[in-house]
Amino acid sequence: MNWNMIPRRAVAIFCFGAGALLTNAQTPAIIPQPETMEARAGGFVLASGAKIVANAGAEDTGRYLAAELRRRDAGELQVVSGTTVPGTGCVQLVLDDPVAGKEGYVLTVAPEGVIIEAHNASGLFYGVQSLLQMLPTAPAGVSRTNIAVPCVYINDEPRFQWRGLMLDVSRHFFTKSEVEALLDEMAWHKLNVFHWHLTDDQGWRIEIKKYPRLTEVGAWRKAIGFGLDPKASQDYGADGRYGGFYTQDDIREVVAYAAARHIMIVPEIEMPGHSSAALMAYPQFSCTGGPFTTDLPGGVFNGVYCAGNDAAFGFVEDVLTEVFELFPGPFVHIGGDEVPVDNWKNCAKCQARMREEGLTKESDLEGYFIRRVEKFINANHRRLVGWSEIRQGGLAANATVMDWVGGATEAAMAGHDVVMSPLNDCYFDHYQSLDHSTEPYAIGGYLPLRQVYQFEPIPTNLPAAYQGHILGVQANVWTEYMPSFKHVQYMVFPRLFALAEVGWSPKSSRNWDDFSRRVKVDCARLDELGVNHRAVK
Ligand code: ACM
Ligand code: ZN
Repeated sequence: MNWNMIPRRAVAIFCFGAGALLTNAQTPAIIPQPETMEARAGGFVLASGAKIVANAGAEDTGRYLAAELRRRDAGELQVVSGTTVPGTGCVQLVLDDPVAGKEGYVLTVAPEGVIIEAHNASGLFYGVQSLLQMLPTAPAGVSRTNIAVPCVYINDEPRFQWRGLMLDVSRHFFTKSEVEALLDEMAWHKLNVFHWHLTDDQGWRIEIKKYPRLTEVGAWRKAIGFGLDPKASQDYGADGRYGGFYTQDDIREVVAYAAARHIMIVPEIEMPGHSSAALMAYPQFSCTGGPFTTDLPGGVFNGVYCAGNDAAFGFVEDVLTEVFELFPGPFVHIGGDEVPVDNWKNCAKCQARMREEGLTKESDLEGYFIRRVEKFINANHRRLVGWSEIRQGGLAANATVMDWVGGATEAAMAGHDVVMSPLNDCYFDHYQSLDHSTEPYAIGGYLPLRQVYQFEPIPTNLPAAYQGHILGVQANVWTEYMPSFKHVQYMVFPRLFALAEVGWSPKSSRNWDDFSRRVKVDCARLDELGVNHRAVK
């Protein structure tokens, strides 16, 4: 395509001075693999002093690109507003292209300049990510001004709308800047959902103004726990207690950071089980009155809200009300997994509730609990997400199921949306090698990179008519045995790159050998940026 023929409907443009031709065209190592990519002869030189030209609405993406180029020592580019191409050698960003798909983009690199066109800001942002991944890798400290980018035409959009990562910050606390570092990596790989597991038995991590003891008491435990070396983490308060929490200002900052990277945050407030930290602070909302503790090993415990006590629902609703104010996204995750029913069996209030509701099994009380909470969530214009077990006792009317131990096909065929994060293919707490002597201690399991890459999110027994209910995929990082952020990075990278490709790229483009080539380049990028990862061979 002639440069002048490139449509300019929704384009962000960088302007670069003319420079040397790229003599040695490389195949760009983009992850996730674009839907269509056509390598072309020659290259474009990103010269120092080049400009990014952004049309109306594209300026934020332009500034993001300039910052990311600076981070990579790839020059200081000036962002200018405009719709016309001021000569050659620019990167032009064009928003409002009606042709590109919903989250799609068209990226053209020609010797004269770069154009990224998109229908909306997300698509434009993803085009920028592909361009960033076309920069050659360079050792740390080596300037990359005047770098050559191979000429290419890419027309790309994602296969799935939910491309997620869950981080458990309860078992160990991770700071705001650590979370933001993870959001950066997600963005670079076109992932768009960060599921923030904010509460569990071993720690409550979100400030709730109406219930200050949740973080005064519930955010802390006596010790690091899980048999770990106390020195493996820095997360000790001034009084020596182990833990931490996010203030509401912290949360707002992270939400904004994610939004600037087109990432939706789905907060998870666990209920009715996995709630020992909340009940340590407010035991009156349990069946037994406590006491409860956060000093627990991994496992399933009786920190469960009383399903017969209206005050417990009042507490949950108050907490969710503050959560709705902090998180603008449409989804709120309420957990719902691994709920032991012993307390409910022995509780007069729970038994009375069962009689009132005509329930014969305690496990059906979970259905009652979730359905009641869903009504509140829907009344507040949000959608409930819960783990597989929320199907027990009757699925709430509008619930989205996060499948970790089954139920996807049944839920989708009943008209519910589903996110796939099965235990066997998406749990990044599992070992990356069968030889445990070479790996840091992990919870168990075995999930090599190749298995993540080969995961197919659409269940084989789901008829085509219901496949649209599979929103996408998600990796889960449970952190019992990951006390440091470096350790989290080791478990996440490069497996997250495989997941990104599963969530974005066409099924027909899956090619393990080619991915293996690209993943090595991507790991070199991590090295450049100082991000820890497991080595690839
Ligand atoms: C889970 O892994 N308990 C959802
Ligand atoms: Zn009870």
